[in-house]
Amino acid sequence: MFQQKQIKNETKQLPGALQHPIGSGFNAKSTTTDVIKGINLTGKIAIVTGGNTGIGLETTRTLAAAGATVIVPARDVEKAGRNLQGIPNVEIAAMDLMSPASIDAFANHFLASGRPLHILINNAGIMWVPLRRDESGIESQLATNYLALFRLTSKLWPSLKKANGARVINVSSHGHHFAPFNFEDPNFLRREYETLQGYGQSKTAVNLFQWNWTIAPEHIMSGYMLYIPDLSAAPS
Ligand SMILES: NC(=O)c1ccc[n+]([C@@H]2O[C@H](COP(=O)([O-])OP(=O)(O)OC[C@H]3O[C@@H](n4cnc5c(N)ncnc54)[C@H](OP(=O)(O)O)[C@@H]3O)[C@@H](O)[C@H]2O)c1
Repeated sequence: MFQQKQIKNETKQLPGALQHPIGSGFNAKSTTTDVIKGINLTGKIAIVTGGNTGIGLETTRTLAAAGATVIVPARDVEKAGRNLQGIPNVEIAAMDLMSPASIDAFANHFLASGRPLHILINNAGIMWVPLRRDESGIESQLATNYLALFRLTSKLWPSLKKANGARVINVSSHGHHFAPFNFEDPNFLRREYETLQGYGQSKTAVNLFQWNWTIAPEHIMSGYMLYIPDLSAAPS
């Protein structure tokens, strides 16, 4: 109850004025059908994380309807199979974003197929969870919403390059206004856990990643990555 009030208050204070229309011709009432209209994705390959529920499911449905082959990695492949039943051109694979080994296994399997990757939609995410950590002690929202996304994109880089003009979409949130990135204590080791702060900083990290990429696509590096030795060299 306290948290519900808190999120309402924090949302009221968000500086939405920072957002400006980008002149796409679409608005809040546009549907995926409006957006995809006239676009033929036959022969294109897409990966949509979290593509069997929520926003991701709608994305999968829309891309597949436009002719793309859509690969949906999921931590519960049986559930994914049920949710995606009847949608053509969909492949389901196992991947748990809380496990770097699982991300690597999924990415390596895709790389081994030799296929280009035209569209990568990093959509999967968690919000408002109690304190949990991955096997390295990283807070779960940071691990799932940002570090996993960075790792997956880095690993798939050769396939993205092979597509010669790939698109990578990182789904962020207005909730990034909840918190800047806390470089001193990103994993809540020396401060009380506040789940919205965790969510906010994870989405801030996503934005910084996207921003870095936009200005220097060949040298993806966000500040936080400097602290992670095995990823700091990738990709180039
Ligand atoms: N809904 C909103 O109002 C809203 C607003 C702003 C931003 N967003 C962002 O939009 C994205 C999608 O949100 P949504 O509302 O569609 O959420 P959702 O329905 O809860 O879907 C999230 C997806 O992420 C997957 N996922 C979570 N942890 C995972 C893990 N460790 N490994 C693999 N997959 C994992 C979930 O898999 P399971 O099915 O196995 O749980 C699920 O498929 C998120 O990044 C979210 O932050 C949403």
